[in-house]
Amino acid sequence: MLVLGIETSCDETAAALVEEGRRVLSDVVSTQTDIHQRWGGVVPELASRNHLVQVLPVVDEALRRAGRQLSDVDLISVTSGPGLLGALLVGVQVGKSLGVALGRPFVGVNHLEGHLLAIRLTAEAPEPPFLALVVSGGHTSLYDVPEIGRYECIGATRDDAAGEAFDKVAKILGLPYPGGAPIDRLAQKGNPRAIRFPRAMSAPGVLDWSFSGLKTAVLQRVRGEGVPSGTALEDLCASFQEAVADSLTKKLVAAARKLGRERILICGGVAANSRIRSLAEERASYRDMKLFVPPPNLCTDNGAMIAAAGYEAYRRGVRSEPSLNANAAWRL
Ligand code: KG4
Ligand code: ZN
Repeated sequence: MLVLGIETSCDETAAALVEEGRRVLSDVVSTQTDIHQRWGGVVPELASRNHLVQVLPVVDEALRRAGRQLSDVDLISVTSGPGLLGALLVGVQVGKSLGVALGRPFVGVNHLEGHLLAIRLTAEAPEPPFLALVVSGGHTSLYDVPEIGRYECIGATRDDAAGEAFDKVAKILGLPYPGGAPIDRLAQKGNPRAIRFPRAMSAPGVLDWSFSGLKTAVLQRVRGEGVPSGTALEDLCASFQEAVADSLTKKLVAAARKLGRERILICGGVAANSRIRSLAEERASYRDMKLFVPPPNLCTDNGAMIAAAGYEAYRRGVRSEPSLNANAAWRL
């Protein structure tokens, strides 16, 4: 079964062709970061307008790279939430119009399920049950996954998402948007123990997070001492990143121990972070757990993960109707 996945929930216009929910034939991502960079964050109206311009050329390019035609597509899968309403509507309209025009089934899928199932596009994917941490620009949520299609949220951030913390701290430090990758690069040259930043909600058994205090701690430091440069900037980035990585991985592994899960997954844009990956690996192997993390291009938003989620939803019997609408606040 050939699935076309379409993703327009935030600032990436993406389309991909995936066979049998596992084999990626093409994966095209057109990012809008240059458009939003000067505003220091995503401007929803600009995002929707740009999706309108990009979406059909991106679908065409995905077909071209896969060497397939629209008529070869068996199923269309589109992100219908959560995300920016105007941005989501572009993908949803295109997805269902293609479905109706081609006479093919289409499904609206949850963006977070896409992140959770991106690992299925790699050679080694965990079989359920497993525990999964979704860390992105909009979400930091921990799910127990007893089977594909069943996601039980057992922890989440009470305020900022981890990616949001990276982006806000980058802004404070005068680094480009989105801030995760630039902080990661600087942090790799710095000393993670230079500054001891707070780890909120660190009492044993608490599976929620809070990152707004950490962001404020960085802000207060910069207000007092100015924006650092050189080694001091690298040390600050490394120390901030260490605080995020420590708190994310500690709770993930603690939750897996509590539930007796031996396989753990980290996904979403922030899972591209080098320190989160290495610390999670260290802590997982210490506890004899197997860690799964998609390659960076499958961590950040893409159409292939939406195709994978659509394929699984279709197999469970999910079908969308032409009345399918975007749901900006859809909870998984
Ligand atoms: O999953 P994603 O592409 O979009 C959302 O669904 O939000 O995640 C984007 C987030 C941004 O906040 C970005 O700064 C962060 O992922 N990110 C990173 C890294 N690469 C991307 N955060 C930390 N380290 C990275 N290397
Ligand atoms: Zn995402």
